[in-house]
Amino acid sequence: MILLNPGPVNVSERVRQALLRPDICHRESEFSDLLGRIQQKLLTAFVPGAESDYVAVLLTGSGTAAVESAVMSCLPMGKRMLVLNNGVYGERLSNMIGLHRLGVSELKSEWHIKPDPERLRLALRQHPEVHAVSMVHHETTTGLINPVKEIAEVVDGLNRVFVLDSVSGLGGEPIDIAGSHIYMVAGTAGKCIQGFPGVSFVLLRKGFLERMRGYPKRSWYLHLTHYVDNQGKGIVPFTPAVQLYYAFE
Ligand SMILES: Cc1ncc(COP(=O)(O)O)c(C=O)c1O
Repeated sequence: MILLNPGPVNVSERVRQALLRPDICHRESEFSDLLGRIQQKLLTAFVPGAESDYVAVLLTGSGTAAVESAVMSCLPMGKRMLVLNNGVYGERLSNMIGLHRLGVSELKSEWHIKPDPERLRLALRQHPEVHAVSMVHHETTTGLINPVKEIAEVVDGLNRVFVLDSVSGLGGEPIDIAGSHIYMVAGTAGKCIQGFPGVSFVLLRKGFLERMRGYPKRSWYLHLTHYVDNQGKGIVPFTPAVQLYYAFE
């Protein structure tokens, strides 16, 4: 069968065979080594030259888990997020943040219209309570590529935090995460990277990570600093889908 959708995608025979490696417990050193290798590969692939400025946090869960963990973990008490919404996945970002009543009115545009950096600049000047801005990189709804660099310039220039859903972008579309000072990027194994669905990740800027440690915990499973602290010791806080990690590597 040939899949012609954006994800899940067909995997190569080499990736499929990787599922058949020996069962291991995630508390063993073999798993710590595997985790470390995947993290290093993600950093080399997506923040080349700035590997030491980022951490890669792996989660067992689909792309939505990575996006939601970034959204839930990036806001200090009393601060808000502004969502740039121009498709189904922008709408999902809005719903996530709306669920916790942590948003301000989204900047919504038609599905075929890209978010306007100048409109964003104006909105951020009007809303000092906005701490973070989120957007989808490749809006899978229409195949539209949003202007990541231009939006990142506005967000960074006004000292806000940029959270990017690149679930269907990473590995398929060029992006300069470190050069654009993007603090959080969510990705998944099961789309352009051509792994199996079920493992996702967040690339997280280290300087911001230190600030996040004081932010409220809004989810038990998805609180990012919880993962980072465990991963620093080569473990994960919850049982990972080990076989999928083999294939992801
Ligand atoms: C841009 C984007 N974000 C998030 C998701 C959600 O990913 P998942 O279905 O793996 O949770 C998708 C899925 O197609 C997507 O295309």
